[in-house]
Amino acid sequence: MKNLASSLNYKNKFLILGCGFSGSFFAKTLRKLGCNALTSSRSESNDPNSFIFNSENGEVPDKKIFEGVTHILSCIPPDKNGNDPVLGNFKNTLKSLSLEWVGYLSTTGVYGNTKGGWVSEIDQPNPFQKRSQKRLNCEKEWIESGLPVQIFRLPGIYGPGRSTFDAIRNKKIRIISKKNQVFSRIHVADITNAIIYLLQNKNSLKFYQIINIADDEPCSQIEVTQYCYDLLGLQMPKPTLFEDAKDELSPIAQSFWMENRRVSNKLLCETLGYKLIYKNYRIGLKNCYLNS
Ligand SMILES: NC(=O)c1ccc[n+]([C@@H]2O[C@H](COP(=O)([O-])OP(=O)(O)OC[C@H]3O[C@@H](n4cnc5c(N)ncnc54)[C@H](OP(=O)(O)O)[C@@H]3O)[C@@H](O)[C@H]2O)c1
Repeated sequence: MKNLASSLNYKNKFLILGCGFSGSFFAKTLRKLGCNALTSSRSESNDPNSFIFNSENGEVPDKKIFEGVTHILSCIPPDKNGNDPVLGNFKNTLKSLSLEWVGYLSTTGVYGNTKGGWVSEIDQPNPFQKRSQKRLNCEKEWIESGLPVQIFRLPGIYGPGRSTFDAIRNKKIRIISKKNQVFSRIHVADITNAIIYLLQNKNSLKFYQIINIADDEPCSQIEVTQYCYDLLGLQMPKPTLFEDAKDELSPIAQSFWMENRRVSNKLLCETLGYKLIYKNYRIGLKNCYLNS
């Protein structure tokens, strides 16, 4: 493996806008490589590398934050009107910088429901949910911004601290079965590592503006849940049929079950040559089990 520090180093200044689950993993990894990484959140934190950005109440950072920035990763979802909070507040500022790269975390929800069929980057998006239509709108805003942006479409994100184990532990688990229903997933470490891999090999790889980051093995939720109960040495409660459970689910939970698709990672893993750390939920969940 190439020395990451030789291509990403202290000369790179990253702004990670929206330092939630994926953003904080990315920031932590970059700092280990010696990069300067500043992160935003909506409220005050003790972290000296963090600043406040909250598009909901108009709290924006001082322009000084942007001085010398070379790379930006936005992990912030669309606002309630379907606009991108980062572009809404900083588009002109970003355009005035000499940015080498901008990453935007999007969702595979933009593909809509394919009734279990595979989707890849060349498929026309066909968002079914309102929130996915908003997301596609934000993707367009980023593409039309003229910035050197790369969009990463993500399925369900999990990792230590956010997995089926946590749902079991917090008694938030609903064991639901729906015939032929599958979900795609990605471990948070693979989001970070895939992006770093692409940045590290930027000069030798063809540039693709839209890339799916998903693991190799879309499968049913029941299969994943059963695996977690087995690892914990517990008996999994009897599943409820989706039809019987759906009225008790929150609208957001219901909406996840309304779409069924398999997300292809061929562009990332075959064409671009990225090797997944956690190529399926079994390996990924073992990591969560050992780190929680
Ligand atoms: N979770 C999933 O399974 C999943 C799947 C596919 C795609 N995605 C998308 O991928 C991205 C990263 O996901 P994630 O789960 O890592 O996200 P996350 O943990 O929910 O973090 C989102 C970040 O955005 C910030 N944020 C939200 N609204 C904001 C606003 N109006 N102004 C400024 N900051 C705002 C949050 O601030 P605070 O830190 O103050 O909360 C947080 O730092 C998100 O866009 C998400 O929608 C998520």
